Amino acid sequence: QHLSLPAIMSVAHGIKLLGVLGAGQMGTGIAFVSALRARVPVLLHDQSKDQVARGLALMDKLLSKDVAKGRIQLNEAQEARDRVRVVNAIEDLRDVDMVVEAVSENLDLKRTVFRNFSEKLRPDAILATNTSSISITKIAASVIPDGVSPASAEGQAAAGRVVGLHFFNPVPVMKLVELISAVQTAPETLAHARAFAEACGKEVATSQDVPGFVSNALLMPFINEAIMCLEKGIATRDDIDKTFRLGMNHPMGPLQLADFIGLDTCLAIQKTLYTGTSDSKYRPSVLLERMVDAQWLGKKSGRGFYEYK
Ligand code: CAA
Repeated sequence: QHLSLPAIMSVAHGIKLLGVLGAGQMGTGIAFVSALRARVPVLLHDQSKDQVARGLALMDKLLSKDVAKGRIQLNEAQEARDRVRVVNAIEDLRDVDMVVEAVSENLDLKRTVFRNFSEKLRPDAILATNTSSISITKIAASVIPDGVSPASAEGQAAAGRVVGLHFFNPVPVMKLVELISAVQTAPETLAHARAFAEACGKEVATSQDVPGFVSNALLMPFINEAIMCLEKGIATRDDIDKTFRLGMNHPMGPLQLADFIGLDTCLAIQKTLYTGTSDSKYRPSVLLERMVDAQWLGKKSGRGFYEYK
C-alpha cells in the first residue's frame, strides 16, 4: 500500500473540536486559521506560558490587521478569538476530534507526545503532525500500545489515525498544506485531514512519507546549493538572492529564505534527508554547520546570512 498513495475520498471534515499542541509560530498560525477560516473551536496547549502569551498576542495582532484592512468584521474577529481557548495539560485535549502537533523537530519528543496522545485522547481522534521532515510512519508506530501487534486490527486502527499535515510559514499567508500518508494511515484519516485543511482555506498537495516529503526534499538541496555557492565564492550573498528574486520571481532568495526558516531547522531537515537516504547529494554544507555552531540561526536570533534589528 505504501508504494502508491491511497485514493482520498471526499468527506466533510467532521472536526467539531480541535487540539493544537505547541504555540510557536506554526502552532499559533494553525490555531488562527482553524478558528478564523474553518470556524472550529480550538484548545491550544504549550508547556511554556511565555510562548502561549506570545502566540495569543500574535493572533490578536493578525485579527486587528484583518479588521483594519476590512477583510473581516470586528464581530468575526471577536468570534475567532473566542474560539481559541488555552488549556494547561494534554489531558485537557481528551474530547478533541483531531489534534495537530507542532512541537520542535525531534523524533524522541514527537514519539513521547504521540504516546501521550494515544493514552489520553479519544481512541478515534485523528492525530496529525506538522513535522517538516520526520517520518510519519515512525511517529505512527509509536502510538500502538505495548503488547499490541502492529499488524493486528487493534494495532492498525491505532496507527491508522496518524497523518502528516504540513503547514508553511507564515501559516495565515501560505496557501499550501502538504498531506502526508504514513504506511499505516487509514484512507478515512487522510480524507478528514484533507477536508479540514481545505476548510482552513488551504490547497492540499499529497506526498508519500519519504524524508523531507516533496516540499523539503526539493527545497533543502536548493538552499544547500545556494550556501555552497556562497561558501565557494561563486557569487555574493546579495547576488545569489537577487538571481532568484528577480530572475525567477521568488519572493525571497534562498539565503534569505534559509534565515527566515531558521538555519538550525534547515540543518535538522538536511540531516534527516542525508541520514534517511544515505545520499551524498543531501550532505549539509560546512558553512551551514558552522553558522549553527555559532548560534547564528537567522531571523529569530538576529543574525544569519543577514543581520536583523
Ligand atoms: N504572520 C502572518 N502574516 C504575515 C507574516 C506572519 N509571520 N509575515 C508577513 N505576513 C503578511 C503581512 O502581514 C502581509 O499581509 P497583508 O497583505 O495583509 O498586509 C503579507 O504577509 C505580505 O507581507 P509583507 O508585505 O510584510 O512582506 P512580503 O510581501 O515580503 O511577504 C512573505 C512576506 C509572505 C513572508 C514573503 O516574503 C514570502 O512569501 N516569503 C517566502 C515564504 C516561504 O517560502 N515560506 C515557506 C518556508 S518553508 C516552510 O515553512 C516549511 C518547512 O518545512 C521548512
